[in-house]
Amino acid sequence: MCGITGYIGEKEAAPVLLQALKRMEYRGYDSAGISTIYKDNVTIKKDIGRIDSINEKIELGKAEGKIGVAHTRWATHGGVTKENAHPHLSCKQKVVMVHNGIIENYRQLFKELSDNHEIKSETDSEVIAHLIEEEYDKEKNPLKTLQNVSKKLDGSFALVVIFSDKKDEIYGVRKYAPLIVGIGEQENFISSDIVSFIDYTDNVIFLEDKEIVKVTSNSIEIVNFDGDKISRDKTHVAWEAADVSKEEFSHHTIKEIHEQSSTVQNALNQDDEEFEEFVNKLTSGKNIFITGSGSSFHIALIFRKMLTKFVDSPVQAFLSSESEEYIESMNDNAILIPISQSGETADLLEVIRNVKDKGVTVLSIYNTVGSSLSRVSDFSLNLNCGPEIGVAATKSFTSQLAIVYKIIFKLGNVKDGNEKIIELSNKIKDILSKEKTLQEIIELINESNDVYFLGRAIHHPIALEGALKLKELAYIHAEGMAAGEIKHGTLALVEEGTPAIIINPKDESYNDTINNATEMKARGAKIIGISSEDNEVYDYWIEIPKVENMLYPLIELVPLQLLAYYTAIRRKNNPDYPRNLAKSVTVK
Ligand code: F6R
Repeated sequence: MCGITGYIGEKEAAPVLLQALKRMEYRGYDSAGISTIYKDNVTIKKDIGRIDSINEKIELGKAEGKIGVAHTRWATHGGVTKENAHPHLSCKQKVVMVHNGIIENYRQLFKELSDNHEIKSETDSEVIAHLIEEEYDKEKNPLKTLQNVSKKLDGSFALVVIFSDKKDEIYGVRKYAPLIVGIGEQENFISSDIVSFIDYTDNVIFLEDKEIVKVTSNSIEIVNFDGDKISRDKTHVAWEAADVSKEEFSHHTIKEIHEQSSTVQNALNQDDEEFEEFVNKLTSGKNIFITGSGSSFHIALIFRKMLTKFVDSPVQAFLSSESEEYIESMNDNAILIPISQSGETADLLEVIRNVKDKGVTVLSIYNTVGSSLSRVSDFSLNLNCGPEIGVAATKSFTSQLAIVYKIIFKLGNVKDGNEKIIELSNKIKDILSKEKTLQEIIELINESNDVYFLGRAIHHPIALEGALKLKELAYIHAEGMAAGEIKHGTLALVEEGTPAIIINPKDESYNDTINNATEMKARGAKIIGISSEDNEVYDYWIEIPKVENMLYPLIELVPLQLLAYYTAIRRKNNPDYPRNLAKSVTVK
């Protein structure tokens, strides 16, 4: 969840690290800090708050030194305090370190270390700095020290470490949390995310789990936790720096919502052979399981509903955090399809770790190039939608959906599938051009404490997604429901003026959903219909164009994203960085 980074080279480190932190702020934004080393001085600047406000207060970018580490935090252990912010320094100032992940045995380590070390924070991370110092005093060799320490830590961790008596070296350690080396000219980077250094280099080395890297300004050496040397080729990543700017938009989130008319098309650009192989593997399975978290789980639900019509094997969709019984029922005939924007979601990666030994074939759908998911899968398809910076999933969701359609078209032998999606992308543009017409509905939602989203069949996952967007961006309680379920309990909550958003284009489920909307209206609800056709039950109608029935989810979601975004703006929330959330959920 946190973003960690390190720099070594010919430049002053602090300004480079500050920019890296801003780029990685989506990973966590309750506190941040930078540490540099100059001559024999270790400088640590850290505080709570967003990076810009910390920088205004203590000038993060003004520490001296050409080597440094930095961290942007999403609190897990210990509250949001300056003391708990990273970087952490060991007692004798020999080790400065940043950590992303969770150390499960930190209480035990704390007990073992606390007699000889002054541990100041409540975090699970600070013990690592002290442990490294203790081990370094014995071993005197940084690589050997980090091997020993890694074996003593339980849990997930990516670390960037500097030993203050080795000012020309910086170290990275990876186990179950992302870490990437950026290779520059007389300078190198270590980071949780490529976007943090993409302005300087697009040549990278992806570390694997249980590896340690030693980086100087012009060399990179990798070993595993047993000290064996690893040779790894560099990868060239083709992401333009422009992709991570906001351009003319006021937030990444709205920029990414607008990008969808082109990103859904980009998702179709798959290598023919690889795509064919993916689909062949998929249909060869005797049991198909689809998994994801949050928005990616909603795609899993839609995928399941569509796929069952085209394959003979049973298809199940499950939340990655609720996997036990599904994992138990997988064997070597099973196909697992993990779906993830970041490719780093801990719950999802754990599912894969738990089934790999059973011979399950893993076919993944992911966005972040070089992510853990892409590297542990047997076959994978990339969303090609570029970095998604806004914490709420928007363009990645519709790109995932576009890939689902591409697979379904292939199975259904639909020849003009790509053309259908390209046509849809123009309809997305039309919907986006009408965003100003939503004002009255935004006012209604803004005044409400609870909002209900109803949909049947393939619209049910979109109702779930619409509710999730409103919760995380506008901080309004929202519930996404199967429309037919309201009469089984939820109607009791409906009061005069309660907004109910009905996702109801004109298809087979239209009339039933209208009945449910009428039941809500009779109890005082204000009905907002998202539909290709108006109806007298709607107090407000958000018109979407008529399209082929199975394609509605891709366009009906767009007004829901706009409603959530503009309600957030109306409430003066920052939609790019919703409170308490982080984009890449690398802890369980
Ligand atoms: C919602 C959202 C989250 C993610 C979830 C999974 O807007 O962004 O619910 O969808 O954390 O993330 P990925 O897709 O990266 O595995």
